[in-house]
Amino acid sequence: MEFQLDNIIGKSKALRDVLNLVKKVANTQATVLITGASGTGKELVALALHALSDRKDKLFLPVNCGALPETLLESLLFGHIKGSFTGAFANQEGLLEKAKGGTIFLDEIGEVAQHLQVKLLRALEAKEILPVGTTTPRHIDVRVLAATNRDLNQEVAAGRFREDLFYRLNVMEIHIPPLRERPEDIPALIDFFIKRHNPELKRNFQGIDADAVQLLMSLPWKGNVRELDNVIEHTMILAEGECITLKDLPAAVVASAAGQPVFTLKLNDALGQFEKQHIARVLKQTNQDRKEAAKLLDISLSSLYRKIDELGIE
Ligand SMILES: Nc1ncnc2c1ncn2[C@@H]1O[C@H](COP(=O)(O)OP(=O)(O)OP(=O)(O)O)[C@@H](O)[C@H]1O
Ligand SMILES: [Mg+2]
Repeated sequence: MEFQLDNIIGKSKALRDVLNLVKKVANTQATVLITGASGTGKELVALALHALSDRKDKLFLPVNCGALPETLLESLLFGHIKGSFTGAFANQEGLLEKAKGGTIFLDEIGEVAQHLQVKLLRALEAKEILPVGTTTPRHIDVRVLAATNRDLNQEVAAGRFREDLFYRLNVMEIHIPPLRERPEDIPALIDFFIKRHNPELKRNFQGIDADAVQLLMSLPWKGNVRELDNVIEHTMILAEGECITLKDLPAAVVASAAGQPVFTLKLNDALGQFEKQHIARVLKQTNQDRKEAAKLLDISLSSLYRKIDELGIE
């Protein structure tokens, strides 16, 4: 089942920590609260938790709790019986029950109304639900994962989120840091998105050049990985040629970098970036003659080979 982690790209310490935690808690029954800003990959992590558990062959049901009015969400999660309210034309099984043996992913849990929070807590504790309009509890067998981009601690402090439910959900927290705190993930993400969009867009991009990568690595990425994906797709639609360069990047993106340079790289990563770029340029200059390049760089041929490998220079 490794493939479910293969589509979560990144080699930063922050992301590796997340993936290690995912592996550890996946095959348990623990409720997991996945936190992180919009577009950081919370749903991707939820899917991985399901796929790496022994519930993987059963349903994974994502529910966006923020998108539905309270009464609809209640009947969706808990079910209802025919005639229990206007419009309830037939019995409907709640998703908490329907997910039997599987996983339910309560996205945007911070948006759930107080009275539903009470019902949810009871469901989690008693492993039973009461469909709307009934008095007979129904047994449930579902792993609950939840996600939020709000600070639930703060919501609890403000009295908007029940403390007891918070503790129940927060048995295990997996926090995904924003992309600007792990810019070293950006090059691999870009390659991944290029490969993913090539067939969809019927294009054949081979990659992106170092200057463009460097600019993208300096941006604040308020929309995180989703925003990066969108920028790459947009760029691929408009760009000519087979390699994305600075001039292909959307004007607004370039302008935002020019307006406010953001230096988020750790010194080592910045040096690594520069090293990679410099070696690539020297190699180009020597027409890929590695011996000649090593001489110019004043390093041994074997260290040049090692660096080419380590830094992923093509
Ligand atoms: N590490 C990653 N590797 C590959 N793709 C990623 C990664 N992180 C996020 N993505 C992609 O970015 C997009 C947004 O991810 P996802 O929907 O999981 O974010 P989210 O945290 O649930 O966002 P929101 O809070 O807005 O719902 C998806 O297309 C997802 O596949
Ligand atoms: Mg999401």
